[in-house]
Amino acid sequence: MIAIEGLSFSYPDGTKAIDQMSLAIAEGSSVGIVGANGAGKSTLVNHLNGFFLPMEGSVSIGGIRVNKKNLDQIHKMVGLLFQNPDDQLFMARLYDDVAFGPENLGMKAADIATLVENVLRELNLWELRDKPPAHLSQGQKRFASFATVLVMNPEVIVMDEPTADLDPKNRRKLINLINGLGITKVTVSHDLDFVWDTCQRVCIMNKGRIVEEGPARDILSNRELLEANSLELPLRLQ
Ligand SMILES: Nc1ncnc2c1ncn2[C@@H]1O[C@H](COP(=O)(O)OP(=O)(O)OP(=O)(O)O)[C@@H](O)[C@H]1O
Ligand SMILES: [Mg+2]
Repeated sequence: MIAIEGLSFSYPDGTKAIDQMSLAIAEGSSVGIVGANGAGKSTLVNHLNGFFLPMEGSVSIGGIRVNKKNLDQIHKMVGLLFQNPDDQLFMARLYDDVAFGPENLGMKAADIATLVENVLRELNLWELRDKPPAHLSQGQKRFASFATVLVMNPEVIVMDEPTADLDPKNRRKLINLINGLGITKVTVSHDLDFVWDTCQRVCIMNKGRIVEEGPARDILSNRELLEANSLELPLRLQ
C-alpha cells in the first residue's frame, strides 16, 4: 500500500532529515514508527500525503506516485494527523473544519451534514461543534483533528504523536478507535505502550533511516535495541 524507495529529504538550512530510506507497508497493516527526537519521523510522515514532495527517491500510495500531478488523488486516499493539531484546524467553527474536506470533494450538502454529525458524535465533539477550534482544550483539539481526517473515509491514516495530549480515558478510547479501523495505519509515537496496543509491526528510525523493522512485540521488548536508539522499554515491560 505504501512504497518508499531511496527517499532523501533536506530542509532549506541543509539539515538532512531523511537519508536514502526505503520502506514497504502492506495494505491493511498497522505500523508504528518510533525513534528519538529529531530522528526524522515527522519529516517522513509529511511525505505520505504529499505535504512534502520527495527531493530524491519516490513515495507511492496504492501504486500512485506522490507528486504534484497526483496530489488530489493522494489527499483522497491518505489522512494525515499532524503532530500539532493547530496545523490541522483553521476555520472559525469546529463544525466547518470537519465539513471542509467533504465540501472540497463537492459532495451533496445533505450527505455532508450526515457525515459530519456522525463523526462529531462518534468522537464526543458534537456539543462543541460551534466552538472555534482555537478555544478547545489540547485533547479536544486532538480528537477534532481526528474528526477532520475520519470524515474523509481515508484508505490510509497516518498519525504523528496522536496520544500526546490525551488523558488515560481518551487514550484508551483512541486505542479502541484505531483498532476498530480496518484500514492501513501508520503511527509515529513516543508512547511505546500505545504502539504495543495498536501496531503489528514497528520500524525504528535513527538519523533519517529505518535501522530495524519487525513484529511490534519483538522490537518493543528488545531492551538493547531500544536503548541503542535512545528509546526505553514500554512501561508495561519495565
Ligand atoms: N523546518 C525545518 N527546518 C530545518 N530543519 C528542520 C525543520 N524541521 C525539522 N528539521 C530538522 O530535521 C530533523 C528531523 O526532524 P523531525 O521533525 O522529522 O524529527 P522527529 O523524529 O519527528 O522528532 P520529534 O520526536 O521531536 O517529533 C531534525 O534534525 C530537525 O532539527
Ligand atoms: Mg516529530
